[in-house]
This record gives sequence, structure tokens and C-alpha cells, in this order.
Amino acid sequence: MLTRRKFLKLCVQTTVAASLSQLLLPDLARALRLLPGGKPAVLWIEGTSCTGNTVSLDNSADPALREVLEEIIDLRYSQLLMWPQNNEAVQILYDTREKQRDNFILVVEGGIPLGMPEAVIIGANDGLPLYATEVIPWLAEAARAVVAVGNCAAFGGPAKTIPNPTGTKGVWEVVTSKPVINVPGCPAHPDWMVGTLVHLLLYGLPETDEFRRPRLFFSKLVHDLCPRRFAFFDGKFAQAPGGEGCLLKVGCKGPITHADCPTRKFNDGVNWCINAGNPCIGCAAPDFPDGGTAPFFARLGDVHLPAGIRSTAVSVTKAVGAATALGIGGHLAAGFARRRLGKNRLAPVSAPQETSGGKDAQDHD
Ligand code: SF4
Ligand code: F3S
Repeated sequence: MLTRRKFLKLCVQTTVAASLSQLLLPDLARALRLLPGGKPAVLWIEGTSCTGNTVSLDNSADPALREVLEEIIDLRYSQLLMWPQNNEAVQILYDTREKQRDNFILVVEGGIPLGMPEAVIIGANDGLPLYATEVIPWLAEAARAVVAVGNCAAFGGPAKTIPNPTGTKGVWEVVTSKPVINVPGCPAHPDWMVGTLVHLLLYGLPETDEFRRPRLFFSKLVHDLCPRRFAFFDGKFAQAPGGEGCLLKVGCKGPITHADCPTRKFNDGVNWCINAGNPCIGCAAPDFPDGGTAPFFARLGDVHLPAGIRSTAVSVTKAVGAATALGIGGHLAAGFARRRLGKNRLAPVSAPQETSGGKDAQDHD
């Protein structure tokens, strides 16, 4: 039997050897079959998105997408994947809304273009366009819960960057009738999506943080799980992306980004951003990209947080732009104490200097 305790353990214990879906599948299929009324339907609606989260889910190698859709999620509607169009497709929305009221899950991928409704037309009903700005709140009102997948749906993401011509907003800024759970990332990891949906189906709303991200996947800083922290402590910093050592000086936003990428990795454990030599760009953060994670290759300012601010998700977000996470301040202070780090660590934020390559470099500033 798939108890909540066992499920939570599997979520956290997922390793490079197996995806969450792979670990869950046998127990899950049994548990879902036993649900009264069968598996609840899932409607997946696109807003201002690049469809990258659907592609990310499609990258699940084992089980393959087909198994995920057939055994785990009863996906009824997806603009990207479905065959029916126009009236036939729209009828699925009406039927599910009516027959599975307060039972189906609404997944939204992409933000809601409030300032330009015609930017996202999700289908047509008797030739009349259906705008995402109308359809999403209409479906949300009848759903059991709403899951916003990807940073655009959760927080507006790249679609909301200044000057934001479409007036895009994150789903939770628009939908107030039902609980919205944010599963950010650019794209979101398939485990984050599947794990959140399974928790909703079997055990109800997952515990979330201040930004409504499931704590299961977003409770720790990338920096705190990062294998390059040893280099950070030793003051060994890469001078260019691709170099060995800590990537702080080439813009890493791991110290202000909550996500479990270092332990979960992407593409069934093949690799992840920092392991590939690219700094974390903060794609799971509420401020991505405009509010503090861009420019992606500019170093975070080494400013200590004002006294009394703790490094929770909220405080870090409020502080970013003016200060870096307490974690960095603390570690750097320790570095200074050990005389490992140079004296200009408090320099203002600036892009790293061009170097001839990605060679390791002891920080002798
Ligand atoms: Fe890892 Fe980035 Fe932290 Fe360096 S700054 S230890 S690369 S998360
Ligand atoms: Fe995104 Fe950083 Fe993870 S860029 S995928 S949160 S390592």
C-alpha cells in the first residue's frame, strides 16, 4: 500500500538511478485504481508558454510519457498533445467541468496575458476564439485544485519580463477561487510535476512554502546541496562558465534559489546545470528572471543581510537586489576568518571579466 509516509520518502529519496515516476509506478497504479470514482481527470491548459514543461515531462525515459499519462495521470486535454480540435476538443473541457466538478485537477503551463487576451487562444468554439484569460479562471472555479507548472505559470517568468507587453501574470495572481500550487522551474522537473499531482490525487494539498511551492522539492537552497560547495569553502572559483570550481563569480544564483536539482538531476539523472558547468540561473525562484536572477552571468552582490533577516525563501527574495543570502554572507565571513578569500569580496555586482578559458582559478583577488 502506498501510504503518504512511503510516498514522501520516495519523493525525497529519488536518486540518479531512478525517477520518481519509476519508483512510484507499481504502487501508484494500484492506489489510483482504488480511488472512489477512479482517477480524477487532469486538464492541461497553455498560457504564455514555450511548452517546455510538457517537453520536460515527455523526457521521462522510464516510465515513458505514455505510461505516465495512462497509469498516473488521466490527462483529458492538452493543446500540445491531443488529437481533437475545435468543438470536439472544447467539448472535453465542458464535459470535465460539469461531470467532474470539484474533482479534476487543472494544470496551467504559462502565465495569463491579462493585458493582451488575444495573445493566447486555446481553441475555438463554433469558430469563436477561446482566450486563456477567460478559460483558466472559468475552469479553476470548478477544479479541485490548480497546479501552475513552470516559472511562467507560477510567477510570470520570462513572459513577464519588462516591459511585459502582454500584461502577463502568474496564475496565483489571477485565480483566487481555488488553491494554486506553484511548481516553478524553466522547465519544471518531471518529478516535481508528477509528485505534486500524485500528492494532490492521493493525499490532498501538499505542504507549501510562502510562494506556494511544495516543500517536498523546494525546501532547500541549491547552494546547500551543491557538490561544488567544497570549492566555495576553499575559495576556488571558476573564471568562466564551464570551468571547475564554484560558479559564484560567473553568476551562480544557487545561493538564492530553492530547489533540489543537485540531488535529483535532470533527464533521469543524466546531468544538471551546475554539473554541466553552467551557473544556476535561478529558474525556480519567484524573482526569475527580472527581479534578481538576471543578468544570468553577473555575480551576486556580496552584501550581508540586515540584522534580523533570516534566509527563508521570503526574506531572501525581499533582500535580493540589495543583498545576497545570509548563507553566502555567513560562509564568506568564515572564509575571511580563515583568510581564504580575497579582500574585495564585497565588491559591487558586476559581470565576470573575460578570460581565455574555463580554467580553475584559486581566488587570489
Ligand atoms: Fe554551487 Fe553555485 Fe553555491 Fe558555488 S555558488 S557552491 S556553484 S550553488
Ligand atoms: Fe533551475 Fe538552478 Fe535548478 S537554474 S534547474 S534551479 S540548478
